[in-house]
Amino acid sequence: MKIKLKLKNKFIPVNTPKIFKQDKININKCLNTGWVSSEGSFVKQFEDSFSKYNNKKYGIAVSNGTAALEIAVKALGFKKKSEIIIPTFTIISSALSVIKAGHKPVLVDCDLYNWNASIDEIKKKINKKTKAIIATHIYGFPLDMDKLKKLCQKKNILVIEDAAEMIGQTYKNKRCGSFGEISTFSFYANKHITTGEGGMILTNNKKLYEKSKSLRNLCFGNANNRFNHDDIGWNYRMTNIQASLGVSQLKRIKSIVQKRHDVGKKYFNKLKNNKNIYIPETSRSYAKNIYWVIAIVIINKTLMIDAKKLTKKLMKYGIQTRPFFWPMHKQKILKNKYKINKNDSYKNSEYISKYGLYLPSSLNIKKSQIELQKTQRR
Ligand SMILES: Cc1ncc(COP(=O)(O)O)c(C=O)c1O
Repeated sequence: MKIKLKLKNKFIPVNTPKIFKQDKININKCLNTGWVSSEGSFVKQFEDSFSKYNNKKYGIAVSNGTAALEIAVKALGFKKKSEIIIPTFTIISSALSVIKAGHKPVLVDCDLYNWNASIDEIKKKINKKTKAIIATHIYGFPLDMDKLKKLCQKKNILVIEDAAEMIGQTYKNKRCGSFGEISTFSFYANKHITTGEGGMILTNNKKLYEKSKSLRNLCFGNANNRFNHDDIGWNYRMTNIQASLGVSQLKRIKSIVQKRHDVGKKYFNKLKNNKNIYIPETSRSYAKNIYWVIAIVIINKTLMIDAKKLTKKLMKYGIQTRPFFWPMHKQKILKNKYKINKNDSYKNSEYISKYGLYLPSSLNIKKSQIELQKTQRR
């Protein structure tokens, strides 16, 4: 594949966070007042504003999105060895949260052009031991929540919604993260809003809220003896400094979403006619593309190039890209931890994980840096 590039800058990172003036003012407030731990008032402020933004009653700020998933799964308190359905095509955090709580992850393949878990595959995996599904929205578009909720209600299965990549996204005008019995988010530096590292759990259920709060904070005992702990918990607290950043970043979410969408649109217009790749559309009937990442999949196999090779090639031109997630059923460390049946197929996840990559998408990326044209095969 020949690649023509017009570049002014030498290196284009895949993503850099955008830090605003108010972010620095907030952080300095923490530093100047000494409120640097999780005890400061920004934590509650962030929990309140973030849960309100997503139309949920309670927010529990935690140290990262993986911690949020671990707490969410444990807080639900299912019997050991219960089955929880998760997508095979996602980050490892979902599988870890299920395994660490003593349950069995049951993997499902994704749709080829949607990249979210296939609802038909989910249907096939439900049995009497199934207690919940981790509904993860991947890269740009949300999962079909109407279909999923209907199925879960019928089968009496709970939805744990992993909206880590979907801050500011909606499904049929309802916020992603508002559908789950319990929902989780990440505020890692590459998310639409960041706290450096950070995560959030949302729920409307008071018991889940109390349990999650306790699990986040070592399950300290009651006033009689604080150091006689109620359960096996974690220190997954978010600091006031992180939360102060979250508070100011959230205020800018609308313009961040719009700007990222503009970046995505520019890529789409440049690449939509390239027959060698698939690039998802900018919007669908149920949602606009939120562009957590600007993702493409190589579809012309005769090019004899996969994501790994293309990533290396682009790096030579100073363009940093990232390959897609590596599916869970291919992870050696998870072997024997999940349930796979003989007839299971994960061919879609295998294809996109080999041929998918994402392109630079920082908010301050210049138009000239998007001037990336692929010609037809030599
Ligand atoms: C879908 C999904 N869930 C969970 C996480 C984990 O979040 P964190 O990196 O904050 O632990 C990520 C991270 O990108 C993610 O993409």
